[in-house]
Amino acid sequence: MRGLTGKTALITGGVSGLGKGIVERFVVEGVHCLVIDRDAEGGGRLIETVGADKVAFAAADISDYGAVQAAVKSLTAGNKGIDILVNNAGWDKPVNFLDTDPEFWKKVIDINLYGPINLHHIVVPGMVERGGGKVINIASDAGRVGSSGESVYSACKGGIIAFTKTLCRELARKGVVLNTVCPGPSDTPLLASFADTGEAGVRLMESLKRAIPLKRLGTPEDVAGMVAFLASADADFIVGQTISVSGGLTMHG
Ligand SMILES: NC(=O)c1ccc[n+]([C@@H]2O[C@H](COP(=O)([O-])OP(=O)(O)OC[C@H]3O[C@@H](n4cnc5c(N)ncnc54)[C@H](O)[C@@H]3O)[C@@H](O)[C@H]2O)c1
Repeated sequence: MRGLTGKTALITGGVSGLGKGIVERFVVEGVHCLVIDRDAEGGGRLIETVGADKVAFAAADISDYGAVQAAVKSLTAGNKGIDILVNNAGWDKPVNFLDTDPEFWKKVIDINLYGPINLHHIVVPGMVERGGGKVINIASDAGRVGSSGESVYSACKGGIIAFTKTLCRELARKGVVLNTVCPGPSDTPLLASFADTGEAGVRLMESLKRAIPLKRLGTPEDVAGMVAFLASADADFIVGQTISVSGGLTMHG
């Protein structure tokens, strides 16, 4: 893809699942990757697999503003700054809303809403200063069409879709372009953890596969391709969009 070689990308949640796929795809495209993830051991494994010359890692919880600030500072010390930000880290556990409580809502909102907001607030000023940058936010089709058992998570992902459009309106003229990618059900440790929560989870997985026109779950490669495209110069005129990568489960006009 055009315009990716030599760029620097910061990816949150790059240790596992979709984030790891995004890191691996960026490396193929010649992008230097900076990864923030709360899984420090996984970060060590990622560096071993991908190579310390291609990826740098800092452990932080994205919901902790101060910790993210320190992580970004350490990752960018001595280099030219971040060209691409991918807000990918996220978490949920499927529970019907009436069985949830405020402690659970707080955890879901801290990770899925405050987390990406923290990253924008810390990273985007540097992009504005340098006259440009690309932000790709990983939301979810749950934020577009809803997802049973994921009410508060869906609210966060819908919030990220709206946040992305609004920030894009504020910043596009300064060269910073934002878009949102909405994966459908994808084969990652997060989705596997849903099935682990019992018989209902297993039924959910099977019914999801049946409902997807392509009759399979998404893969990290499916999502990484769209992220790499949006980050590239080939997508320079695609601005503030929300794009589903869902095997046709959701088809938006
Ligand atoms: N897998 C799916 O079916 C699916 C569908 C739609 C959207 N998504 C979204 O895609 C993104 C990636 O999900 P995945 O399926 O690859 O999950 P995953 O659990 O496999 O990977 C998520 C990564 O994020 C990290 N992480 C989680 N919370 C964090 C925090 N507070 N601070 C720092 N790191 C944190 C984890 O350690 C992990 O490495 C998430 O935003 C998720 O909501 C996933």
